[in-house]
Amino acid sequence: MPKTTLDDLGDLAGKRVLVRVDFNVPLDKKTGAVKNDRRVRGALPTVRRLLDAGAAVVAMTHLGRPEKATAEERKLLTTDRVAERFGELLGRPVKKAAGEVVGPAAAAAVAAMKPGDVLLLENLRFDPREQKNDAAFAQAIADLGDAYVNDAFGTCHNDHDASMVAVPATLKAAGKPRAVGTLVARELEIIDGLMANPRRPMIGIMGGAKVSDKIAFIRVLLSKVDKLLVGGKMTYTFLKARGVDVGATPVADEEVTAARPLLGEVGGKIVLPVDSVAANSDDLAQTRVCDGAIPAGYAGVDIGPKTVALFAAEIRTAGTVIWNGPVGWFEQPAFARGTKEVAEAMATSAAVTVVGGGETAEAVEQFGYADKMTHVSTGGGAFLAYVEGKPFRSLAQIDDR
Ligand code: 3PG
Repeated sequence: MPKTTLDDLGDLAGKRVLVRVDFNVPLDKKTGAVKNDRRVRGALPTVRRLLDAGAAVVAMTHLGRPEKATAEERKLLTTDRVAERFGELLGRPVKKAAGEVVGPAAAAAVAAMKPGDVLLLENLRFDPREQKNDAAFAQAIADLGDAYVNDAFGTCHNDHDASMVAVPATLKAAGKPRAVGTLVARELEIIDGLMANPRRPMIGIMGGAKVSDKIAFIRVLLSKVDKLLVGGKMTYTFLKARGVDVGATPVADEEVTAARPLLGEVGGKIVLPVDSVAANSDDLAQTRVCDGAIPAGYAGVDIGPKTVALFAAEIRTAGTVIWNGPVGWFEQPAFARGTKEVAEAMATSAAVTVVGGGETAEAVEQFGYADKMTHVSTGGGAFLAYVEGKPFRSLAQIDDR
């Protein structure tokens, strides 16, 4: 790891360490309850390590997009519930400085912290200065800590978040150290290794809805992998671009335009499904398996059984598998088979298996295969951007070793 890690931070006894975590977790829309705590669990090793070293931890995260929320929705975006879950998982209370992100109350709460104490700041995005890399806001946060740790891989691609860029920059000006936490170090090591020196054959699996959002990612994958298996909604974009009738499957024209330049790779590195499960748009219980075109009134919802077998065979002989995007509408149990079987084939293969993207990680967890993968990334957009090789201003702030 070329970046400073927790190992390099020296004696932390009695120090206050600012830890930027990504606790931007899915919440129940009505109650605000934490629906999936994977990202919270992911940060525990770093927090425990700092506490064991005699530090106090001032954790901070954004949660949702309060700037786009109604007043009602915004109430659910306080970090209170996340702090509760964090405390349960950590096995010790997590304090909150209520009412403000930074200011006199937060400063007083932090000043009262003792070694072994943990405090979670209020949702950083409750203060509009967070997303503007604001210098005064960054200074107020930086004043709360003696060292900074970035353990928020899922947010590392956000160049304008003060907590990711301006805060560590301010700490540097004050001569205070900045390191990556164990979650970020592992993400970087795994993805760097995968892209630099993959065990072959290397298979990519792509799914999800939009080709247009993932063009750069797909192109990078195509330059690395031996085969790219395509599933999910984007299958129908490719089929439509090839002039195949996709029935009632909704495919936007701009998606077809985005897919067109990639058509030359179909039949080469890009492997499209050979069959699909399609459901009647008026009655989802009526399904049929289609070998090519989807009939009128039906929409593609999953890869078909022949494709499941084809993909599973590719995965079994692969040296490396990188997967982003579910291959079907897995949230509906009747259409989850393709995604489940891809996950199972990866979980039981001897390949290096890496899963990235929020929905894909959720699917793998839901089916109980997360622990059987080499790595399940905590990043959604960050995973895509890091694989694409985009430079991250957040990581540039972390001290080199
Ligand atoms: C994510 O979930 O991708 C990160 O937490 C970043 O959130 P954002 O897309 O709202 O910036």
